[in-house]
Amino acid sequence: MRFKAGLIYLSMVACFLPPPFYFVSCLNSDGQTLLSLSRRWITTPQSILSSWNASDADPCLWGGVLCDPNKLVVSLNLSSSHIMGEIGPEISMLTQLKSLNLSSNYISGTIPSQIGNCSRIQQLDLANNILSGKIPKSVGNLLDLMYLDLSYNQFISLPPDLGNCSNLEQFAVVGCGLTGPVPSSFGQLTKVTLLYLSINQLSGNIPPQLANCTSLTDLQLNDNQLEGSIPSELGRLKLTTLYLFTNRLTGEVPMSIWKIDTLENLLINGNGLFGELPIEIVQLKHLKVFTLYDNHFFGVIPQSLGINDSLTIVDFYNNSFSGPIPPNLCSGNQLERLILGFNSFQGSIPSEFGNCASLKRLIINNSNLTGVLPHFVNTPNMLHMNLEGNRFTRQILGSFGKLTNITLINLSKNRLSGLLPMELGNLLWLQALDLSHNALEGPLPPELASCSMLLKFNASHNFFNGSIPTALQTMSRLSTLDLSQNQFSGSIPTFISELKALVDLQLGGNTLRGMIPSSVIELERLVTLNFSYNGLTGRIPSNFSKLVMLQNLDVSHNHLTNNLASLSELHVLANLNLSYNLFIGPIPANLVKFLNSSFLENPGLCVDCGLDNCDVVSRNFRHCTSHSDQTSLTKFQTAMVALGASAFLFAVIGLGFMFHSGQREKHDIEDRSLFHKVMEATEDLNDRYIIGRGTHGTVYKASLGPDGVYAVKKLMFGGSKEGITSMVREVETIGKVRHRNLVRLEDIQMEKDYGLILYKYMQNGSLHDILHEVHPPPLLDWSIRCKIALGTAHGLAYLHFDCDPPVVHRDIKPMNILLDEEMEPHISDFGIAKLLDQSSPTLMSGTLRGTIGYIAPECAFTSKESKECDVYSYGVVLLELITRRKAVDPSFSDTDGLDLVKWVRSVWNENKEIEVVVDAAGL
Ligand SMILES: *[C@@H]1O[C@H](CO)[C@@H](O)[C@H](O)[C@H]1NC(C)=O
Ligand SMILES: *[C@@H]1O[C@H](CO)[C@@H](O)[C@H](O)[C@H]1NC(C)=O
Ligand SMILES: *[C@@H]1O[C@H](CO)[C@@H](O)[C@H](O)[C@H]1NC(C)=O
Ligand SMILES: *[C@@H]1O[C@H](CO)[C@@H](O)[C@H](O)[C@H]1NC(C)=O
Ligand SMILES: *[C@@H]1O[C@H](CO)[C@@H](O)[C@H](O)[C@H]1NC(C)=O
Ligand SMILES: *[C@@H]1O[C@H](CO)[C@@H](O)[C@H](O)[C@H]1NC(C)=O
Ligand SMILES: *[C@@H]1O[C@H](CO)[C@@H](O)[C@H](O)[C@H]1NC(C)=O
Repeated sequence: MRFKAGLIYLSMVACFLPPPFYFVSCLNSDGQTLLSLSRRWITTPQSILSSWNASDADPCLWGGVLCDPNKLVVSLNLSSSHIMGEIGPEISMLTQLKSLNLSSNYISGTIPSQIGNCSRIQQLDLANNILSGKIPKSVGNLLDLMYLDLSYNQFISLPPDLGNCSNLEQFAVVGCGLTGPVPSSFGQLTKVTLLYLSINQLSGNIPPQLANCTSLTDLQLNDNQLEGSIPSELGRLKLTTLYLFTNRLTGEVPMSIWKIDTLENLLINGNGLFGELPIEIVQLKHLKVFTLYDNHFFGVIPQSLGINDSLTIVDFYNNSFSGPIPPNLCSGNQLERLILGFNSFQGSIPSEFGNCASLKRLIINNSNLTGVLPHFVNTPNMLHMNLEGNRFTRQILGSFGKLTNITLINLSKNRLSGLLPMELGNLLWLQALDLSHNALEGPLPPELASCSMLLKFNASHNFFNGSIPTALQTMSRLSTLDLSQNQFSGSIPTFISELKALVDLQLGGNTLRGMIPSSVIELERLVTLNFSYNGLTGRIPSNFSKLVMLQNLDVSHNHLTNNLASLSELHVLANLNLSYNLFIGPIPANLVKFLNSSFLENPGLCVDCGLDNCDVVSRNFRHCTSHSDQTSLTKFQTAMVALGASAFLFAVIGLGFMFHSGQREKHDIEDRSLFHKVMEATEDLNDRYIIGRGTHGTVYKASLGPDGVYAVKKLMFGGSKEGITSMVREVETIGKVRHRNLVRLEDIQMEKDYGLILYKYMQNGSLHDILHEVHPPPLLDWSIRCKIALGTAHGLAYLHFDCDPPVVHRDIKPMNILLDEEMEPHISDFGIAKLLDQSSPTLMSGTLRGTIGYIAPECAFTSKESKECDVYSYGVVLLELITRRKAVDPSFSDTDGLDLVKWVRSVWNENKEIEVVVDAAGL
């Protein structure tokens, strides 16, 4: 930068010297302007660094630059160049500029109003940046402007002045958080062909003046909050595309709209529109995509719809259409998606659809259809068929076997009967087959064995009989198997344990006999297991605790015996039903919470009342009597409860992390009483013990005397999933890692409404406290600051490079860096951390992550999860350590943008004196 500035000064000096002294070439004014623009960029693209040379005479060979014969810049294209920084007002000095393309960079700040002085500009593309504030009115001065794209930034509203850009042909401000109305002045844009204002929060009515945009062919106003009715004036336009979906439009669609015979894409779903479709819509003969779903349309769909057109997508889901389904929808042989579910039709599916070769998705569920299923003789492209919840009768035909590409079939909740056709075995790609709630009968055909891709198979609530077929054995990907409420007989096959992916296994309501095979404990992913209402005998297999994910267990109404010891380690159980069996012995401590309803009619069960909370509910149960028996069991149970903590941990962590169970067991017994002590020491988490309120929970200090001091973080769940997610995420990440510069999770405790996480207490609080909160401020000499910086970097490097998958913390800041008694830093608060692999859930897009002041500009509004974002935040922490100023501090003047990074940059640029920047107290 300095070198460049030097050259500029040199060339400027040269320019003032008399002609004979022109020994250095003199960069022309447009060149100087470009250099001065680039000086506002924190990162400068390589193409610029390599070619933007201040000692050139003109910038015409510079990267991204095109000139006119007078060596003045006419085009600047620096799209996708990783530019970070702002657009300076000097842009207006490029007087001949016709095209400016700075799209897809990280440009921040506002668009300078001086842009309005680039009076020759024809193309302005600033899309995909992080610009904010107002769109300057002065853009309305750009009378030559033909192409304006400001999409994917964050602006406030649309200035009416833009209506003055009378030469505008393409105009897009998509996804910019715009509020306020669509200015009626846009009706003056008589040359505009494309107008895209989608994905904002624009409100008010659609201005009828838009009908004056006589060149308009493509109008996209979807995903806003527009209200009122669709102006009939728009029918004057020769539109090919009209996107009005996901707004708050009401009323009837004006007849004029149904008559725009150029329309190819009419998407008006997700509003409050109503009315009947007039016969005139058959004039929309170019219509390809026609979506009306989630509105209140009613009446009969004109039977000639589709008669001479190229319909590809028809989606009328969730309206109140009635009458027969028009048979012509596929007559153009283009129809790929026909989605008519949640209406109330009459009659059956027209047989014509059985020949609709283009059809990929047929979804007509819950629509009152009757009759028989069509013969799908020529629909080889069908992928997805959902006819659930109608009143179809008779058999499933062998022609289903011709749907060779299909992945999903849902025929549940109809009145189908007869045998399953063996041709279903041809459906090699089938992933979900739901035949539940019909009147199907007979054995399942052995040919089903070929459907080895099945993930979900539901045949429940039918009259199937015979034994559970070995055909299932090949379905190794199966995660849901529901054969409940049929007439299956025989025993539960042992091969069931080979279906390792099973999450949901339901065999209830059959006439199965024999024992529960002990191999079921190998189904380690099981969440739901239902064997109720059969004639099963024997015991619940031992080692049932291997089913660490099990949440729902129902084996009620069988003849099972023996004690419940094997259930004593299931700590994520949420629903349990053991009623109507012959179980004996004590109810394990972890199951006492189910006393009310889970153990009915098991006269051999008893309750051990060494435990606090069973007095009230145990009236219906015998107390377990033998004293010696009781104490030994209590001990045993305590150990089981304790082990439960690791079981839970194991469950939330998923695979990949195991305690050394031997050591852990003993340790955990201590921890259990530890939590008890913690509650005592904090008087049940009394507010007096609060030492911090983080983004993700409240932190208490618990001093246990000789047992040490702990920080207890309480995360409220309050009915929301978010709290649990945050807890799981924290445990998931921090439970996995071991590093001296990361806080160590000591234990966790789950309660109904909240969870507790126990950490070692850090004597010196957070780095934030030390730097800014403690009074008088402690002296922090540079060796300590260096140690903190280095330790934090070590911790971060471990997360990024030594963890597998790598962990991105996403909220690195001094508040989350805790200091122990030796001032060694420990990174904490993993509530929004992210494992960098595909499997972990992503946050909703569009939410701001991290903390203002620490988020890298390029990370703020994108869904990018990258290590670099953490590194930026770490950089801010370093600046904070060095300057002892807060990242966002009201003492920074407004012009610095209230931001430490900008403050340091501007102070440094001004003074170039390190003393002005660093914390004097540390020197
Ligand atoms: C700029 O151009 C001059 C003369 O053409 C050359 O000597 C110098 O090395 C160039 N500087 C850079 C950074 O390329
Ligand atoms: C603009 O720059 C980008 C990136 O350097 C390049 O891919 C694109 O082709 C350029 N466009 C024009 C019209 O030169
Ligand atoms: C700007 O550059 C991008 C990427 O090269 C390109 O897609 C876009 O069309 C350009 N804009 C204009 C107005 O040429
Ligand atoms: C920009 O244009 C305005 C009038 O629109 C004028 O007052 C101003 O001087 C111009 N600025 C420059 C730098 O040309
Ligand atoms: C635009 O439309 C409105 C109403 O539709 C009309 O009154 C007006 O004359 C039209 N012309 C212009 C230039 O606004
Ligand atoms: C379903 O269709 C029958 C005629 O097949 C009709 O009588 C009945 O009203 C319809 N049900 C609904 C809810 O529309
Ligand atoms: C079925 O899917 C395959 C690829 O999955 C595709 O190539 C083929 O065209 C589809 N249609 C038929 C009729 O097989």
